Amino acid sequence: MKTLFLDALECSNKSRPPVWLMRQAGRYLPEYRKIREKHSFIEMCHQPEIAAEVTQLPINIFGMDAAILFSDILVIPEALGVGLHFHEGKGPVIERPIESVDDITALPKPNVKETLGYVAKAIQYVGPELNIPLIGFCGAPFTVASYMIEGGTSRDLKKTKQWMLRDPHSFHNLLSHIADCTIDYLNMQIDAGVHAIQIFDSWANALGYYQFHEFSLQYLKKIIKGLKNKDIPVILFCRGSSVFVKDLVAAEPQGISLDWNVDIAKVRSYVPETIALQGNLDPDILYASLETIKKEVGRLLYGMRKDKGYIFNLGHGIKPDMPVEAVRTLVDTIKNFT
Ligand code: CP3
Repeated sequence: MKTLFLDALECSNKSRPPVWLMRQAGRYLPEYRKIREKHSFIEMCHQPEIAAEVTQLPINIFGMDAAILFSDILVIPEALGVGLHFHEGKGPVIERPIESVDDITALPKPNVKETLGYVAKAIQYVGPELNIPLIGFCGAPFTVASYMIEGGTSRDLKKTKQWMLRDPHSFHNLLSHIADCTIDYLNMQIDAGVHAIQIFDSWANALGYYQFHEFSLQYLKKIIKGLKNKDIPVILFCRGSSVFVKDLVAAEPQGISLDWNVDIAKVRSYVPETIALQGNLDPDILYASLETIKKEVGRLLYGMRKDKGYIFNLGHGIKPDMPVEAVRTLVDTIKNFT
């Protein structure tokens, strides 16, 4: 197996930085859209053969240095019985959002091997097909809880924050419950063969500084501590990571994925060289000319050129209307960097 990605995560990479991209297997790929014509998104997640096939698409097309499992962070709420649908153009819909303390108390403690066994199967199918590491993932409890309370994507997380501020005790119960299921879920993914884990806290930026400590960070720490196999590296991705980066270090992840608001080379001056940094190209640069893409990628690569723990990625995911050629140019620019 090619270990560039794992070497960089261990902060011992002496060659060019590895590259993978959030949402690398998504709708911007015609090959993805073709499969998607025949199946709903959730069906694609549920069917291990399809999830395995889609995981490999971007690797076969562009040759990234790591694959991320094709799935979604919302399979945990689905396993908790709140019902999940993806509506065309509307994003995820939770059918029975959490509305009362009783709803929290009534949540089952799922046996993840039964309810989410299809994820383990997808990992077992795709792992042997790859000659690069496979990244497993989950959502952070705060982000997952926000979907369960809002019932879908919300711009301001109003219901979630109202609940959090008016009744922090029950909100903590919900976060704890999600964290416990997530620990079982990640241990299952690790047993099935993933080489690294990324935790997505996509809504962390909705929290104030001290709120982030109380309602998100402590659960990220709990999850990392709860993994049975301590050798599996964990990367933390938070929207707002450039603000919280020093605090994320305290959770002892092996890597931190940064948004595009900071100069990543400057961040290195206050993050220990034992922790890998991942990121942080503004995803919208993929809308620019190929020349601009090369220039912007080059700027990042130059800034991090001596860093043994640098992983190239975007600050957030690829959008569905981004050009395939832009992604190809980005990956090639990194692979040709000497
Ligand atoms: O990165 C990858 O290629 C791996 C697969 C992956 C998906 N979702 C596939 C997906 C991963 C790692 C995720 C994580 C995820 N899912 C997050 C955290 C990262 C982030 O984007 O902030 C969140 C918040 C979700 C929840 C979710 N799933 C939303 C809000 C949506 C709708 C918005 C959108 O992009 O369509 C999804 C759907 C989704 N997840 C798609 C894919 C490929 C599109 C589904 C389709 O084909 O219609």
